[in-house]
Amino acid sequence: MTHISVPTGEPYEVILGKGLLDTAGERLKKMLDPETAIIVADSHTGPLFRGKLENSLKKAGIPNILTYGFPAGEARKNAGTYLSMLSFLADHSVTRKDCLLALGGGVVGDLTGFAAATYLRGIPYVQLPTTVLAVSDSSVGGKTAIDLPEGKNLVGCFYQPALVLADLDTLDTLPTDIFREGCGEVIKYAVLFDPELFEHLSEKGLNFDRERVLSQCVRWKRDVVVQDEHDHGVRQLLNLGHTIGHAVERCSNYQISHGSAVAMGLAAITRAARKMGICEKETEEAVLSMLNTFGLPVSLPYGPKELAQAALHDKKRSGGSISCIFPEEIGKCRIQSLPVAELEGLIALGVE
Ligand code: GLY
Repeated sequence: MTHISVPTGEPYEVILGKGLLDTAGERLKKMLDPETAIIVADSHTGPLFRGKLENSLKKAGIPNILTYGFPAGEARKNAGTYLSMLSFLADHSVTRKDCLLALGGGVVGDLTGFAAATYLRGIPYVQLPTTVLAVSDSSVGGKTAIDLPEGKNLVGCFYQPALVLADLDTLDTLPTDIFREGCGEVIKYAVLFDPELFEHLSEKGLNFDRERVLSQCVRWKRDVVVQDEHDHGVRQLLNLGHTIGHAVERCSNYQISHGSAVAMGLAAITRAARKMGICEKETEEAVLSMLNTFGLPVSLPYGPKELAQAALHDKKRSGGSISCIFPEEIGKCRIQSLPVAELEGLIALGVE
């Protein structure tokens, strides 16, 4: 089991290991002692894990347990689901003494976090991530959000969880393509900060040491988030591959998953960085070969014009410029602001 402290404004622990859903009730009772625990799960995670979590909450003597469920998928991370969750909480007279439990991947975590942040001006929530993407990245750091028809994550706030409990047993149930696509975020951390992690991933591929690798991603994320909790500076590095990635997701109407889109975005920005003289051919080859090893896509499925148009809705845009993250070498990347008018040209450099 690995414990990682996150000393943000409101500090909390991230715990990673096997069998943690069984002990979730006990930990919750000690930490928050809620009157009511509200499990938020989607149509994938509810049937798989809700029973185990509920048993653990009951065993720990938490008086009331409720479940709010919704259909799985990015398309449901919207205002409709958010408002219906708030009404559910109000209808069940949930108070600040209670807590929300986000049992699932990025969509469940982002949506639950935003509801927790805003219902009664804030009630506690716990992240129980069940995908590689959520364990390595989205459950840590307090970014909460819902999407608008105009773009992804356009409404949200920073609100740290009270605890993150990542039961690594949940990853055994993931279909290979979902496991694989979460690895796009893991590779991102290796390219950003960690040549040793990069080496381990290229040696082991999908059979990487889960606890070691995912804990390392969380440590890197923690180090960045404590320096820049509200995303004004160094935290933007975590958007490596995301400017183009988010545009791909949007153009596909969210039919292409986040992790696959990030992989495409990472491949494209690395090609562009090499053509711009920011990184060497060796770095470009290493990144592309790593994405291939994981079976992740490296070609852009839309043209530069369409993608640039879609990227204009990105939160990383600020006035007439947009911040882009370029790899310089494995373990070192830079943030560079680019006039939006140059984005199409940049994406064109990223085409194979
Ligand atoms: N997923 C990037 C961040 O949390 O800043």
